[in-house]
Amino acid sequence: MISIAIFASGAGSNAEKIMERFKNHPYIKVALIVSNKPQAGVIQIAKKYRADVLVIDKENFFSTDFYLKKLREKSIDWIVLAGFLWKMPAYFINAYRNKIINIHPALLPKYGGKGMYGLYVHEAVILNKEKESGISIHYVDEIYDHGKIILQAKCLLDENETAGSLAQKIHVLEHQHYPAALEKIISSNANLSPLEKRT
Ligand code: GAR
Repeated sequence: MISIAIFASGAGSNAEKIMERFKNHPYIKVALIVSNKPQAGVIQIAKKYRADVLVIDKENFFSTDFYLKKLREKSIDWIVLAGFLWKMPAYFINAYRNKIINIHPALLPKYGGKGMYGLYVHEAVILNKEKESGISIHYVDEIYDHGKIILQAKCLLDENETAGSLAQKIHVLEHQHYPAALEKIISSNANLSPLEKRT
């Protein structure tokens, strides 16, 4: 089995779609949900799917490799960020080089970087009178929202678009593309036996 840990800080709608996708998957499983917020909606979703949960604290995450060891103990192969709002520390990125994937709710390289998350992104897009926005699925490297882009998908903005209505459009795109893109990347990186391979 190939094991994924999903890191999330919020409602967890993307995490839910990913867990749904891999629920009965022949060789990929969501083995762990990691959150920096004990009250986050994603924790309830994890319970629904009977996934293990790890609530992390700032001190251990940024100043020790305690959680890296925890992930190793659980044999985690891939890290998937789904609305995770802390920057991944360098030691994590080194340990999981090209094995950490993020989704960003805009068309990078525009509207990325520190402070650009959730509704702040959509507010900036609307303020700049953009005609379109979208999602970017990308590898995580040491620079915020910078790693190699795997997939982008676009949507058009309406004249009276609000940050809230744009967020909904973006979520539709995310749910449509993120689980499938993850399955594709993880599968293409795996040495699968013919039995495990799906047509
Ligand atoms: C998603 O739109 C995701 O792209 C965004 O947070 C939302 C989480 O929604 N991530 C970022 O802004 C990261 N910079 P969810 O909790 O419902 O999955």
